Amino acid sequence: MAEVVIVPTADAAGALVAAEIARLVRARPDAVLGLATGSTPLPVYAALREALTGVDVSHVRGFALDEYVGLDPRHPQSYRSVIRREVVEPLGLDPDRIHVPDGRLDGIEGAGDAYERAIAAAGGVDLQLLGIGSDGHIGFNEPGSSFASRTRVKTLTRQTRADNARFFDAPDDVPRHCITQGLGTILDARHLVLLAFGAGKAAAVAGAVEGAVTASLPASAIQLHPHVTVVVDEAAAAELRYADYYRETWDAKPAWQGL
Ligand code: F6R
Repeated sequence: MAEVVIVPTADAAGALVAAEIARLVRARPDAVLGLATGSTPLPVYAALREALTGVDVSHVRGFALDEYVGLDPRHPQSYRSVIRREVVEPLGLDPDRIHVPDGRLDGIEGAGDAYERAIAAAGGVDLQLLGIGSDGHIGFNEPGSSFASRTRVKTLTRQTRADNARFFDAPDDVPRHCITQGLGTILDARHLVLLAFGAGKAAAVAGAVEGAVTASLPASAIQLHPHVTVVVDEAAAAELRYADYYRETWDAKPAWQGL
């Protein structure tokens, strides 16, 4: 079962997860981080600025979960731009060690396999940050995605495009296709850390953690992984049946265990 940590605010979640990432990087200076985009991981990236103060990050490696297909990589909402702006520059990471799937149309047929090879060559991902879509996607693995899937091109659902319209000038500007790590790729990471905030994520979180394991709710794939931490605020935890048990477990957890 995933460890579920219910925190009062998104900032508290950010501090908790940033501390874990800093611990990892101190222990392993060339740690491989799995990076998510969207709104959810921003408190983690913000907290990392302080948590990584004085830590040598020059060898840290990273792989983003996904990218829009056909969007100019220089577009401010391409995930390449977002990762550079929100993660690489503020944390002082080496841009050459931080990878984002190549969503350019030219060569897109081989981009998924190339990304898989790059992750394998890095020795796999140590800690994978995940947000969750209101339709239960992780990465951009929309409902119906195979649990064995690898990095490939997918079509975004109408709901995901509507959810992400806030980042673009007009809803129609949201690309229809993306290239995303597969559920099989994500499950290969050594530690999954899924974050969710707000009432809009409550149903998806409950389904992912406590519902049936089903491709109809791709995030339920986390139940197949031996080391998962789910960090949610009260609103996102609202539909969890065993919330009291998660709170008791967390309150009694010895500090030495980490996440
Ligand atoms: C982003 C990603 C997506 C988002 C999800 C939630 O790299 O893979 O799964 O995590 O769409 O988005 P936000 O955080 O904006 O609610």
